[in-house]
Amino acid sequence: MADESRLDESRLEELRRLCAAPLPHPDVAEMRRAGESVLRFAIKDYTDLPDRPIGAYATPRHEMEAIFRQEPPEHGQPFESVMAEFERFVSPNSLRVSHPRFMAFIPGAPSFPSILGDWLASTVNFFAGVWKEAPSATLVELVVLDWFKEFLGYPAEAQGILTSGGSEANLTALVVARERLVFADRSRALIYVSEHRHWSVDRAARVMGLGQDQIVVLPAAADGRFSIPDLEKAVQSDTREGLLPWVVVANAGATNTGVVDPLDALADLCGRRKLWLHVDAAYGWPAVLCAGEMLRGIDRADSITFDPHKWFGQTFEAGGLLIRDGKELTRSFAMLPEYMQDVAADEGEVNFADRGIALTRRFRALKIWFSMKILGVGWFRRLVEHCCWLAEMAQLLIEESGRFEILSPHQLSVVCFRYLPETRGKTTDEELNRLNLAICEDIRRQGRFFLSTTRLRDQVALRLCFVNWRTRSEDVAECIEALVNVGERLSAGNV
Ligand SMILES: Cc1ncc(COP(=O)(O)O)c(C=O)c1O
Repeated sequence: MADESRLDESRLEELRRLCAAPLPHPDVAEMRRAGESVLRFAIKDYTDLPDRPIGAYATPRHEMEAIFRQEPPEHGQPFESVMAEFERFVSPNSLRVSHPRFMAFIPGAPSFPSILGDWLASTVNFFAGVWKEAPSATLVELVVLDWFKEFLGYPAEAQGILTSGGSEANLTALVVARERLVFADRSRALIYVSEHRHWSVDRAARVMGLGQDQIVVLPAAADGRFSIPDLEKAVQSDTREGLLPWVVVANAGATNTGVVDPLDALADLCGRRKLWLHVDAAYGWPAVLCAGEMLRGIDRADSITFDPHKWFGQTFEAGGLLIRDGKELTRSFAMLPEYMQDVAADEGEVNFADRGIALTRRFRALKIWFSMKILGVGWFRRLVEHCCWLAEMAQLLIEESGRFEILSPHQLSVVCFRYLPETRGKTTDEELNRLNLAICEDIRRQGRFFLSTTRLRDQVALRLCFVNWRTRSEDVAECIEALVNVGERLSAGNV
């Protein structure tokens, strides 16, 4: 007995000695030097970006492997050499989606205050999952969500959460909507979507264990919007067949075309038929900041996905979800395991971990709060106007050139079109598709602009999407001119 306690004491002594000091880590002078170097890089990168090429695109895998494939380093290297590696190999070898001439997919274009807010959030590294650990972070998120609620016309009882992006928000919304179903009904419940829904909705359904046949995809009307008569008919006939119409997912800014579905009419239909209306406004939601009725009816949705990292000047990842009847969010997700008993939410406290999928959450709200306070809502309103005007201007130039066909006129800040060669009369649709894909690829390879394509009614469309405060009319004019030149060259066969 006596021996054992001596043994314990010697082990304790050894442990005391082993852990007497923190691990070696860069000291204050080194942190200052390294931090200043990163800041210098960030400011230069931010200011120079418009003057540089868009970045590397589709580099073959073996080239990247040759640069980056390494054994994990057992011993650390000086900051300067790793930073130099970052500057030389990491930074230039991906596309810069925040570049003002990147007009593909849905770009991201953070303001500098958002970048700084993101950095500060990493610095404090608050645990934004529970109130007791992070009351300030939680309240800042609640305040930001309240601002968005107000913009979107949502009532006080609505609740929300910031997410990694629109995919997580759409999944979270559908999980909440499912709580309304009794278990036995889950396999016959149907989600109605238009052909232009974002595919994250399909993936959410798959993650939730729904069958592909539980997603009813309806062709859009001629203007690209949800067809109300078709939806009404589908709901009626599915009900007659013993199925359970359950959710309608509408777009407020479809990824393909920017189209906004008829939200008011959809809300009427969903109200009549007791369906959950989810509006995927991941891209288009900031349009509510502008006068006008672009998103009329969005305030009547049961849930809304909105992504500040798309058209709201934020760094990735900043998505969000609002649920009109806010209590349903907590009802769907709240759990209290034993080891969290100390931080259970008391009256008046909010645990964001009870509102969604993640427990550990970074302080995403900070960059939004920070940038909105520094820039002001007026700046974001101007951002929306600016981008809508760019899309309108692009369409006017496209039409004026006489070389293109508009496939979907500008909606919010997206416009879709295709190049038509002089020989249009003798060109098949398949040849036109190949030509337009080749035009896009050629433009990308030149590295000055980056566009993407989509397919609308089987026709390949060139697509421009504007979300960047730094994109100027001059960039748009130069882009259309470049498209005309490439189109002429490729259709003349001088590839
Ligand atoms: C309309 C829409 N919904 C959802 C998403 C998915 O959002 P995220 O990429 O942030 O997950 C996107 C992405 O482009 C989108 O455009």
